[in-house]
Amino acid sequence: MTTVSAETEASPATSDDDVMVRVTDLTKVYETGAEHPISACDRISLAVERGKLVAVTGPSGSGKSTLLHLIGALDSADSGTIMVDGREVTSLRGRELAVYRRTIGFVFQRFHLLPTLTALDNVMAPVLPLKVAFDKKERARELLAEVGLAGREDALPSKLSGGQQQRVAIARALIQRPSLLLADEPTGNLDSQTGAQIIDLLFNLRTTAKTTIMIATHDEGLADRSDQIVQVRDGKVVSAVGPGVA
Ligand SMILES: Nc1ncnc2c1ncn2[C@@H]1O[C@H](COP(=O)(O)OP(=O)(O)OP(=O)(O)O)[C@@H](O)[C@H]1O
Ligand SMILES: [Mg+2]
Repeated sequence: MTTVSAETEASPATSDDDVMVRVTDLTKVYETGAEHPISACDRISLAVERGKLVAVTGPSGSGKSTLLHLIGALDSADSGTIMVDGREVTSLRGRELAVYRRTIGFVFQRFHLLPTLTALDNVMAPVLPLKVAFDKKERARELLAEVGLAGREDALPSKLSGGQQQRVAIARALIQRPSLLLADEPTGNLDSQTGAQIIDLLFNLRTTAKTTIMIATHDEGLADRSDQIVQVRDGKVVSAVGPGVA
């Protein structure tokens, strides 16, 4: 484990083949109409090694969600570059962007399940309009079993606990076998015991599915167990610890 300062260039010691995410000088400014615009991302540079689980920590308003949204192309940057699996995300447009988004799984704090769909249909929802080379229902069933919800396929979200709803949301994020899973405070709406189970599940995915995972979190316990910690404050990386940033 190596500690680097915020000014250190991202990961010269790591070969690009091993890097899943490389962010360079990423900047996102929100014009709020007030005198000073908000720099939600202020020249952020970082690298995440393939197959690692990274905790993105920092106080409320420090820019964690913004960073994950930019990496997942849910929002666009003002300047800087984001390379994911060798692809330059910030230059993607139209169909290429849609294809890229399908390679990313996103898990939200508030689950965002569709209330009128069963657990199984929620998991299948992202691929329903797509032509895919796998059996959608079969894979959705497998994923629900993987997250510990075998037998609850037909349950509506309202009949599931918060932890179970988040499991459905994680299964949904995995339906296209993403190479990168981004989770924005996935335990923020859960009690600590249920949250710990969700974190265990994410650590298992990192090991079994070899998925690279970035988690925005306030959870110190998670940060302690992660392979790498990226600490942000006022839109800047103030400390990065771990193999991807040596
Ligand atoms: N759409 C927006 N318009 C204007 N300002 C925004 C917008 N989204 C975020 N911000 C501002 O950008 C900064 C970073 O916000 P962000 O949501 O990324 O923080 P965060 O670290 O995820 O916080 P939290 O821990 O509360 O989720 C904050 O000052 C926030 O008010
Ligand atoms: Mg946030």
